[in-house]
Amino acid sequence: MKVLFYQSSTDAAAWLHDLARALPAAELREWQPGDHAPADFAIVWRPPAEMLAGRDSLRAIFNLGAGVDAMLALERERPGTLPRNVPLIRLEDTGMGAQMAEYVTYAVLRYLRRFDEYQAQQSERRWQVLKPHPRERFTVGVLGLGVLGIRVAQTLASFGLPVRGYSRSAKQIDGITTFAGEAQFDAFLDGASVLVNLLPRTPDTEGVLNARSFAKLARGAYLINVARGAHLVEADLLDALASGQLSAATLDVFHEEPLPADHPFWREPRITITPHVSALTLREESVAQIARKIDALMRGEPVSGVVQLERGY
Ligand code: NAP
Ligand code: GLV
Repeated sequence: MKVLFYQSSTDAAAWLHDLARALPAAELREWQPGDHAPADFAIVWRPPAEMLAGRDSLRAIFNLGAGVDAMLALERERPGTLPRNVPLIRLEDTGMGAQMAEYVTYAVLRYLRRFDEYQAQQSERRWQVLKPHPRERFTVGVLGLGVLGIRVAQTLASFGLPVRGYSRSAKQIDGITTFAGEAQFDAFLDGASVLVNLLPRTPDTEGVLNARSFAKLARGAYLINVARGAHLVEADLLDALASGQLSAATLDVFHEEPLPADHPFWREPRITITPHVSALTLREESVAQIARKIDALMRGEPVSGVVQLERGY
Protein backbone atom coordinates (compact mmCIF):
# COMPACT_ATOMS: atom_id res chain seq x y z
CA MET A 1 0.00 0.00 0.00
CA LYS A 2 1.42 3.37 -1.07
CA VAL A 3 0.57 6.51 0.90
CA LEU A 4 1.31 10.05 -0.29
CA PHE A 5 1.58 12.85 2.25
CA TYR A 6 1.49 16.62 1.81
CA GLN A 7 1.15 19.35 4.38
CA SER A 8 2.12 22.93 3.72
CA SER A 9 3.37 23.75 7.24
CA THR A 10 6.67 22.87 8.83
CA ASP A 11 6.25 19.68 10.85
CA ALA A 12 5.92 17.23 7.95
CA ALA A 13 8.76 15.10 9.37
CA ALA A 14 6.89 14.50 12.63
CA TRP A 15 3.71 13.56 10.72
CA LEU A 16 5.62 11.13 8.50
CA HIS A 17 7.26 9.58 11.56
CA ASP A 18 3.91 9.05 13.33
CA LEU A 19 2.15 7.82 10.19
CA ALA A 20 4.94 5.30 9.58
CA ARG A 21 4.44 3.92 13.10
CA ALA A 22 0.65 3.75 12.73
CA LEU A 23 0.77 2.20 9.23
CA PRO A 24 3.77 -0.18 9.39
CA ALA A 25 2.81 -1.94 6.14
CA ALA A 26 2.61 1.31 4.16
CA GLU A 27 5.16 2.70 1.73
CA LEU A 28 4.92 6.31 2.80
CA ARG A 29 6.32 9.27 0.88
CA GLU A 30 6.12 13.02 1.08
CA TRP A 31 4.82 14.41 -2.20
CA GLN A 32 7.26 16.57 -4.14
CA PRO A 33 6.49 18.57 -7.32
CA GLY A 34 6.76 16.25 -10.32
CA ASP A 35 5.77 13.11 -8.36
CA HIS A 36 3.10 11.40 -10.49
CA ALA A 37 3.94 7.86 -9.33
CA PRO A 38 0.98 5.70 -8.25
CA ALA A 39 -0.46 5.83 -4.73
CA ASP A 40 -3.37 4.21 -2.89
CA PHE A 41 -4.09 6.94 -0.36
CA ALA A 42 -3.29 10.65 -0.05
CA ILE A 43 -3.15 12.48 3.27
CA VAL A 44 -3.16 16.24 2.69
CA TRP A 45 -3.70 19.72 4.02
CA ARG A 46 -4.09 22.45 1.41
CA PRO A 47 -2.27 20.55 -1.35
CA PRO A 48 -1.28 22.12 -4.66
CA ALA A 49 -3.65 21.17 -7.51
CA GLU A 50 -0.84 19.29 -9.27
CA MET A 51 -0.58 16.74 -6.48
CA LEU A 52 -4.07 15.26 -6.86
CA ALA A 53 -5.11 16.00 -10.45
CA GLY A 54 -5.54 12.82 -12.48
CA ARG A 55 -5.04 10.46 -9.53
CA ASP A 56 -8.19 8.47 -10.28
CA SER A 57 -6.73 5.27 -8.85
CA LEU A 58 -6.53 6.58 -5.28
CA ARG A 59 -8.72 4.69 -2.80
CA ALA A 60 -9.27 7.82 -0.68
CA ILE A 61 -8.00 11.30 0.08
CA PHE A 62 -7.76 12.27 3.77
CA ASN A 63 -8.06 15.98 4.61
CA LEU A 64 -6.04 16.96 7.69
CA GLY A 65 -8.78 19.21 9.03
CA ALA A 66 -12.52 19.25 9.69
CA GLY A 67 -13.33 21.82 7.00
CA VAL A 68 -12.89 20.85 3.36
CA ASP A 69 -13.67 24.24 1.85
CA ALA A 70 -10.08 24.74 0.63
CA MET A 71 -10.16 21.37 -1.16
CA LEU A 72 -13.49 22.16 -2.79
CA ALA A 73 -12.23 25.61 -3.78
CA LEU A 74 -9.31 23.94 -5.59
CA GLU A 75 -11.80 21.94 -7.60
CA ARG A 76 -13.93 25.03 -8.34
CA GLU A 77 -10.88 27.03 -9.47
CA ARG A 78 -9.37 24.16 -11.47
CA PRO A 79 -12.04 21.59 -12.34
CA GLY A 80 -10.59 18.09 -12.40
CA THR A 81 -8.25 18.67 -9.46
CA LEU A 82 -10.16 16.29 -7.23
CA PRO A 83 -10.11 12.87 -8.84
CA ARG A 84 -13.59 11.67 -9.70
CA ASN A 85 -15.04 8.82 -7.61
CA VAL A 86 -12.30 9.05 -4.99
CA PRO A 87 -13.81 9.64 -1.52
CA LEU A 88 -12.64 12.76 0.28
CA ILE A 89 -12.57 12.05 4.02
CA ARG A 90 -12.29 14.76 6.65
CA LEU A 91 -11.20 14.65 10.30
CA GLU A 92 -14.01 13.98 12.74
CA ASP A 93 -13.33 15.56 16.10
CA THR A 94 -9.82 14.13 16.75
CA GLY A 95 -9.60 16.34 19.84
CA MET A 96 -11.12 19.39 18.14
CA GLY A 97 -14.43 19.03 19.96
CA ALA A 98 -12.86 19.55 23.38
CA GLN A 99 -10.80 22.50 22.12
CA MET A 100 -13.83 24.15 20.50
CA ALA A 101 -15.91 23.64 23.65
CA GLU A 102 -13.18 25.30 25.75
CA TYR A 103 -12.73 28.22 23.37
CA VAL A 104 -16.42 29.00 22.91
CA THR A 105 -17.28 28.45 26.58
CA TYR A 106 -14.52 30.84 27.59
CA ALA A 107 -15.81 33.50 25.19
CA VAL A 108 -19.47 33.06 26.22
CA LEU A 109 -18.70 33.14 29.96
CA ARG A 110 -16.48 36.17 29.46
CA TYR A 111 -19.46 38.01 27.97
CA LEU A 112 -22.00 36.58 30.43
CA ARG A 113 -19.91 37.70 33.43
CA ARG A 114 -18.89 40.96 31.64
CA PHE A 115 -15.16 40.30 32.05
CA ASP A 116 -14.53 42.13 28.76
CA GLU A 117 -16.05 45.27 30.26
CA TYR A 118 -14.23 44.84 33.59
CA GLN A 119 -10.97 44.53 31.62
CA ALA A 120 -11.74 47.83 29.88
CA GLN A 121 -12.59 49.40 33.25
CA GLN A 122 -9.34 48.15 34.76
CA SER A 123 -7.34 49.90 32.05
CA GLU A 124 -8.99 53.13 33.29
CA ARG A 125 -8.55 52.17 37.01
CA ARG A 126 -12.32 52.32 37.31
CA TRP A 127 -14.09 50.40 40.14
CA GLN A 128 -17.69 49.93 39.11
CA VAL A 129 -20.04 47.00 39.59
CA LEU A 130 -21.96 46.15 36.40
CA LYS A 131 -25.42 44.59 36.51
CA PRO A 132 -25.05 40.86 35.71
CA HIS A 133 -26.72 39.49 32.56
CA PRO A 134 -29.61 37.28 33.68
CA ARG A 135 -28.46 33.74 32.85
CA GLU A 136 -31.97 32.49 32.04
CA ARG A 137 -32.28 35.11 29.27
CA PHE A 138 -28.70 34.83 27.96
CA THR A 139 -29.70 32.62 25.04
CA VAL A 140 -26.87 31.23 22.95
CA GLY A 141 -27.55 30.21 19.35
CA VAL A 142 -25.12 27.72 17.80
CA LEU A 143 -25.08 27.68 13.99
CA GLY A 144 -24.16 24.16 12.90
CA LEU A 145 -24.95 21.02 14.91
CA GLY A 146 -22.32 18.72 13.48
CA VAL A 147 -19.45 17.03 15.28
CA LEU A 148 -18.22 20.31 16.79
CA GLY A 149 -21.47 22.27 17.09
CA ILE A 150 -23.22 19.59 19.15
CA ARG A 151 -20.28 19.37 21.53
CA VAL A 152 -20.22 23.14 21.99
CA ALA A 153 -24.01 23.40 22.40
CA GLN A 154 -24.11 20.65 25.03
CA THR A 155 -21.19 22.15 26.96
CA LEU A 156 -22.90 25.56 27.07
CA ALA A 157 -26.19 23.96 28.15
CA SER A 158 -24.35 22.32 31.08
CA PHE A 159 -23.86 25.84 32.50
CA GLY A 160 -27.62 26.27 32.65
CA LEU A 161 -27.75 28.65 29.69
CA PRO A 162 -30.64 28.43 27.24
CA VAL A 163 -29.08 27.02 24.08
CA ARG A 164 -30.49 26.85 20.55
CA GLY A 165 -28.95 24.96 17.65
CA TYR A 166 -29.42 25.31 13.90
CA SER A 167 -28.69 22.73 11.22
CA ARG A 168 -29.74 21.75 7.72
CA SER A 169 -31.60 18.59 8.74
CA ALA A 170 -33.92 18.40 11.78
CA LYS A 171 -32.40 17.05 15.02
CA GLN A 172 -33.43 16.24 18.55
CA ILE A 173 -30.75 16.88 21.16
CA ASP A 174 -31.35 16.75 24.91
CA GLY A 175 -31.25 20.19 26.49
CA ILE A 176 -31.00 22.08 23.16
CA THR A 177 -33.86 23.80 21.30
CA THR A 178 -33.27 22.88 17.69
CA PHE A 179 -34.15 24.61 14.42
CA ALA A 180 -33.56 23.37 10.88
CA GLY A 181 -33.55 24.79 7.40
CA GLU A 182 -34.01 28.29 6.04
CA ALA A 183 -37.67 28.44 7.08
CA GLN A 184 -36.64 28.30 10.76
CA PHE A 185 -33.57 30.53 10.54
CA ASP A 186 -35.24 33.71 11.81
CA ALA A 187 -36.87 31.87 14.71
CA PHE A 188 -33.46 30.47 15.63
CA LEU A 189 -31.92 33.96 15.70
CA ASP A 190 -34.88 35.73 17.33
CA GLY A 191 -33.70 37.62 20.40
CA ALA A 192 -30.58 35.49 21.02
CA SER A 193 -27.86 37.12 23.15
CA VAL A 194 -24.93 35.26 21.61
CA LEU A 195 -24.47 33.84 18.11
CA VAL A 196 -21.79 31.15 17.70
CA ASN A 197 -20.87 30.05 14.18
CA LEU A 198 -19.80 26.45 13.55
CA LEU A 199 -21.10 25.98 10.01
CA PRO A 200 -18.97 24.62 7.20
CA ARG A 201 -18.14 27.14 4.48
CA THR A 202 -20.32 26.34 1.48
CA PRO A 203 -22.01 28.49 -1.19
CA ASP A 204 -25.15 28.36 1.02
CA THR A 205 -23.46 29.56 4.20
CA GLU A 206 -21.06 32.26 2.93
CA GLY A 207 -21.98 35.67 4.33
CA VAL A 208 -24.53 34.23 6.78
CA LEU A 209 -23.19 36.52 9.54
CA ASN A 210 -24.58 39.74 8.12
CA ALA A 211 -26.62 42.83 8.99
CA ARG A 212 -29.92 41.01 8.51
CA SER A 213 -28.93 38.22 10.90
CA PHE A 214 -27.50 40.64 13.46
CA ALA A 215 -30.74 42.67 13.42
CA LYS A 216 -32.72 39.58 14.55
CA LEU A 217 -30.57 39.09 17.66
CA ALA A 218 -31.15 40.83 20.99
CA ARG A 219 -29.91 44.41 21.04
CA GLY A 220 -26.30 44.40 22.28
CA ALA A 221 -25.73 40.73 21.35
CA TYR A 222 -22.34 39.04 20.97
CA LEU A 223 -20.84 37.21 18.01
CA ILE A 224 -18.36 34.31 18.15
CA ASN A 225 -17.06 33.12 14.77
CA VAL A 226 -14.91 30.00 14.91
CA ALA A 227 -15.80 28.48 11.52
CA ARG A 228 -14.54 30.44 8.50
CA GLY A 229 -13.90 34.11 7.75
CA ALA A 230 -16.07 33.94 4.62
CA HIS A 231 -19.15 33.46 6.81
CA LEU A 232 -18.86 37.05 8.04
CA VAL A 233 -19.67 40.25 6.17
CA GLU A 234 -16.94 42.28 7.83
CA ALA A 235 -18.40 45.74 7.13
CA ASP A 236 -21.73 44.62 8.65
CA LEU A 237 -19.96 43.65 11.88
CA LEU A 238 -18.28 47.05 12.16
CA ASP A 239 -21.62 48.79 11.48
CA ALA A 240 -23.42 46.62 14.05
CA LEU A 241 -20.80 47.46 16.69
CA ALA A 242 -21.02 51.16 15.82
CA SER A 243 -24.83 51.14 16.13
CA GLY A 244 -24.82 49.10 19.37
CA GLN A 245 -26.80 46.23 17.81
CA LEU A 246 -23.76 44.07 18.68
CA SER A 247 -21.72 44.69 21.84
CA ALA A 248 -18.62 42.69 20.97
CA ALA A 249 -17.24 39.85 18.88
CA THR A 250 -14.68 37.09 19.28
CA LEU A 251 -13.20 36.08 15.94
CA ASP A 252 -10.82 33.20 15.26
CA VAL A 253 -11.13 33.16 11.46
CA PHE A 254 -10.90 35.85 8.80
CA HIS A 255 -11.37 36.47 5.09
CA GLU A 256 -7.65 36.93 4.81
CA GLU A 257 -5.30 35.01 7.13
CA PRO A 258 -3.02 36.19 8.63
CA LEU A 259 -5.25 39.22 9.27
CA PRO A 260 -3.47 42.12 7.51
CA ALA A 261 -1.75 44.59 9.86
CA ASP A 262 -3.86 47.49 8.59
CA HIS A 263 -7.21 45.70 8.99
CA PRO A 264 -9.77 47.78 10.96
CA PHE A 265 -10.56 44.82 13.25
CA TRP A 266 -7.16 45.30 14.96
CA ARG A 267 -8.20 48.82 15.99
CA GLU A 268 -11.65 47.87 17.36
CA PRO A 269 -11.30 47.09 21.11
CA ARG A 270 -14.65 45.27 21.15
CA ILE A 271 -13.28 42.65 18.74
CA THR A 272 -11.18 39.89 20.29
CA ILE A 273 -8.87 38.28 17.73
CA THR A 274 -7.14 34.88 17.81
CA PRO A 275 -5.08 33.46 14.91
CA HIS A 276 -7.23 30.47 13.80
CA VAL A 277 -6.46 28.39 16.87
CA SER A 278 -9.87 27.55 18.32
CA ALA A 279 -9.41 23.87 17.39
CA LEU A 280 -6.03 22.78 16.12
CA THR A 281 -5.39 19.54 14.23
CA LEU A 282 -3.79 17.26 16.82
CA ARG A 283 -1.27 14.92 15.25
CA GLU A 284 -1.61 11.88 17.50
CA GLU A 285 -5.42 11.73 17.39
CA SER A 286 -5.55 12.50 13.66
CA VAL A 287 -2.96 9.88 12.71
CA ALA A 288 -4.79 7.26 14.80
CA GLN A 289 -8.16 8.07 13.17
CA ILE A 290 -6.72 8.04 9.63
CA ALA A 291 -4.83 4.78 10.23
CA ARG A 292 -8.04 3.13 11.54
CA LYS A 293 -9.95 4.30 8.46
CA ILE A 294 -7.23 3.14 6.05
CA ASP A 295 -7.27 -0.30 7.71
CA ALA A 296 -11.08 -0.40 7.39
CA LEU A 297 -10.99 0.63 3.72
CA MET A 298 -8.34 -2.01 3.02
CA ARG A 299 -10.72 -4.61 4.52
CA GLY A 300 -13.48 -3.27 2.25
CA GLU A 301 -15.46 -1.76 5.16
CA PRO A 302 -17.24 1.63 5.01
CA VAL A 303 -15.92 4.60 6.99
CA SER A 304 -17.52 7.78 8.29
CA GLY A 305 -16.49 11.35 7.54
CA VAL A 306 -16.84 11.05 3.76
CA VAL A 307 -17.58 14.49 2.32
CA GLN A 308 -20.71 14.83 0.18
CA LEU A 309 -19.29 16.94 -2.61
CA GLU A 310 -22.65 18.12 -3.94
CA ARG A 311 -23.59 19.47 -0.49
CA GLY A 312 -20.16 21.02 0.09
CA TYR A 313 -19.34 19.43 3.47
P1 NAP B 1 -19.91 18.96 10.43
O1 NAP B 1 -19.90 17.82 11.38
O2 NAP B 1 -19.92 18.69 8.96
O3 NAP B 1 -21.19 19.86 10.81
C1 NAP B 1 -21.68 20.85 9.98
C2 NAP B 1 -23.02 21.32 10.54
O4 NAP B 1 -23.46 22.44 9.78
C3 NAP B 1 -24.11 20.26 10.41
O5 NAP B 1 -24.97 20.28 11.54
C4 NAP B 1 -24.88 20.71 9.17
O6 NAP B 1 -26.24 20.32 9.15
C5 NAP B 1 -24.78 22.20 9.31
N1 NAP B 1 -24.99 22.87 8.02
C6 NAP B 1 -24.26 22.77 6.89
N2 NAP B 1 -24.78 23.53 5.91
C7 NAP B 1 -25.87 24.13 6.43
C8 NAP B 1 -26.84 25.03 5.93
N3 NAP B 1 -26.80 25.48 4.67
N4 NAP B 1 -27.83 25.42 6.76
C9 NAP B 1 -27.90 24.96 8.03
N5 NAP B 1 -26.99 24.11 8.58
C10 NAP B 1 -26.00 23.70 7.78
O7 NAP B 1 -18.69 19.93 10.69
P2 NAP B 1 -17.81 20.09 12.03
O8 NAP B 1 -16.80 19.01 12.13
O9 NAP B 1 -18.72 20.34 13.16
O10 NAP B 1 -17.01 21.44 11.66
C11 NAP B 1 -17.70 22.64 11.36
C12 NAP B 1 -16.76 23.67 10.76
O11 NAP B 1 -15.91 24.19 11.78
C13 NAP B 1 -15.76 23.16 9.72
O12 NAP B 1 -16.36 23.05 8.46
C14 NAP B 1 -14.67 24.20 9.75
O13 NAP B 1 -14.92 25.21 8.81
C15 NAP B 1 -14.78 24.79 11.15
N6 NAP B 1 -13.57 24.50 11.96
C16 NAP B 1 -12.82 25.54 12.39
C17 NAP B 1 -11.70 25.30 13.16
C18 NAP B 1 -10.87 26.42 13.70
O14 NAP B 1 -9.81 26.18 14.26
N7 NAP B 1 -11.31 27.65 13.60
C19 NAP B 1 -11.36 23.97 13.49
C20 NAP B 1 -12.15 22.95 13.03
C21 NAP B 1 -13.28 23.21 12.26
P3 NAP B 1 -26.67 18.76 9.10
O15 NAP B 1 -26.33 18.23 10.49
O16 NAP B 1 -28.12 18.80 8.85
O17 NAP B 1 -25.85 18.13 8.03
C1 GLV C 1 -9.52 23.98 10.76
O1 GLV C 1 -9.87 25.09 10.53
C2 GLV C 1 -10.21 22.79 10.33
O2 GLV C 1 -11.10 22.91 9.47
O3 GLV C 1 -9.87 21.71 10.81
